Amino acid sequence: MSKVHFQELSELKELLASIEYSQLFVLTDENSKKHCYPLIKDYLEYHQVIEIASGEKHKTLDSCNLIWNALTMATADRKALLINLGGGVITDMGGFCAGTYKRGIRFINIPTTLLSQVDASVGAKTGIDFNGYKNHIGLFCEAEAVLINPVFHSTLPERQLKSGFAEMLKHGLIADKKHWENCIENGFMKISNELIQQSVKIKEKIVDADPTEKGLRKVLNFGHTIGHAIESHLLNTENELLHGEAIALGMIAEAYISKSKGFLAKDEYILIVGELRNFFKSPKIEKTSYMEIKRLCKQDKKNQNGEINMSLLKNIGQAVYDISVEEELIDHALAEIL
Ligand code: GLY
Repeated sequence: MSKVHFQELSELKELLASIEYSQLFVLTDENSKKHCYPLIKDYLEYHQVIEIASGEKHKTLDSCNLIWNALTMATADRKALLINLGGGVITDMGGFCAGTYKRGIRFINIPTTLLSQVDASVGAKTGIDFNGYKNHIGLFCEAEAVLINPVFHSTLPERQLKSGFAEMLKHGLIADKKHWENCIENGFMKISNELIQQSVKIKEKIVDADPTEKGLRKVLNFGHTIGHAIESHLLNTENELLHGEAIALGMIAEAYISKSKGFLAKDEYILIVGELRNFFKSPKIEKTSYMEIKRLCKQDKKNQNGEINMSLLKNIGQAVYDISVEEELIDHALAEIL
């Protein structure tokens, strides 16, 4: 497991001094370059910045080409080090490009959004979207280190904070009832360092037990079968959602399925939906889109033998995985949330 550091950014200097590298690169997008790069650049020795366009719609092979090309033009060798400075798109795609360039160079993640701090940058999943499917191409590849600091939150709009908050709520729902309650009580506007650390701890414990998602790690995907499908469906439309916003809707839908299948008690279902609805509203999606959303669910990486498999809730703080779900039930869940 990568070492996760909750440290001052100035300690980046020490971290880099402990790693022997030939050339240093920083991958970022226009937003992180403007707001976050100035906070770290003085701690870096000579380096080259690789900038790509921000947003999920650029998490593509075209952007990878740009990154691999920049490394190639600079004659980066296998001892080169890449710092991924940005949100989940940057840490996922930067990790993927580093893991494949010359069969692998090392990388450090400096996640700048709450979402990438509590989820994307931790746990060695890297990848890109492909043909409209989320994280369809990728590999497990560990960062040398992950450096988490809430100083970046002041650069984030409210929606971005809420998006990360959704993944924190998920950590509580699948593994730690107290964490769920603490997050609800705290709200998303000013997240304490302790809550971030607790979320990362929950995720690390699950990833340590099952690093390559053969079984248990699938619980981290609660809300993601339907959430990813809704996110992909709305990508590049005027109703486009941030990842966590789509996952929150996915969690409501999958809590409904958990209840319908007899795993989750009705009172807990009502409680979960009530709390999530306080923070997350549904976009307008026509009934005619349900087929398309189900088609996207069929590409989910947890599926097997043509069946749609989900991770569901048993109660607040406990999840089950590899549960086959009928398409008809997905229709009912969509009708419930949309
Ligand atoms: N975001 C889910 C996982 O890392 O497994």
